[in-house]
Amino acid sequence: MKILNKKVLGEVQGIKITMLEVAAPDIARKAKAGQFVALMVKETGERIPLTIVDRSDKNGSITLIFQEAGLTTRLLGSLNIGDSLYAIVGPLGHATEIKKYGRIILVGGGVGIAEIYPVAKAFKKAGNNVTTILGTRTKDLLILEKELKETSDILHVVTDDGSYGKKGFTTDVLTDLLKKDRYDLVYAVGPIPMMRRVSDITKGFGVKTVVSLNALMVDATGMCGCCRVTVGGAVKFSCVDGPEFDAGDVDWDELVKRNRIYEDKEKHICKLIQP
Ligand code: FES
Repeated sequence: MKILNKKVLGEVQGIKITMLEVAAPDIARKAKAGQFVALMVKETGERIPLTIVDRSDKNGSITLIFQEAGLTTRLLGSLNIGDSLYAIVGPLGHATEIKKYGRIILVGGGVGIAEIYPVAKAFKKAGNNVTTILGTRTKDLLILEKELKETSDILHVVTDDGSYGKKGFTTDVLTDLLKKDRYDLVYAVGPIPMMRRVSDITKGFGVKTVVSLNALMVDATGMCGCCRVTVGGAVKFSCVDGPEFDAGDVDWDELVKRNRIYEDKEKHICKLIQP
């Protein structure tokens, strides 16, 4: 559980996106695209889930990427090479269903780009034609562009402020692509409003769409109930039944409402502990 490597991949106004390579040989051996780990930075801290972005059999390590947005991710970002995590468990969650679909569009928004990378690699390896759309607020928050260029047949980059790539949103590019061509699958990870919009767009074109709802998870053990989501009229838990679901079946109204509660609480806690 020792940290073997650390790199800040992006930073804007003090909010960092950080990469850690962590020694975890058993997890590295078994991990598949779409799966995650739950970790504790300190014995007294909370558990948080993070997607396994990469794995190395040679180093017996896994790669994690996270935005230092909340209390625990900031604590995690304060660790250095040589430090150890208190605990890590995984791989957890159902792996992405990897098979040859044909033509696939991957949509990654913000730090969700980190979750797109292992899936892009696996889809490409399975013989799919992969078009990837990456979107961030601004250039300095763009991560894994080089890596995703190598694993995608076509890569589109957009930024909200136009500081890099095309100015606009991932969903603008997605709409253009779907208008011009036929695709067999859309896979999206990013902020909930983005995934909801992707779902609305692809419904109109009749394209199967998968979203990863790992952003909903809190302790990732199936016990806290925070990642509850209604899918196809049935109650599901993102950490146990997911994290991936058919976007067209997700009750987005309910999901957005519930997620707001936790965002407000997290902001409140961060304010309390930081002068
Ligand atoms: Fe707690 Fe899923 S994260 S039940």
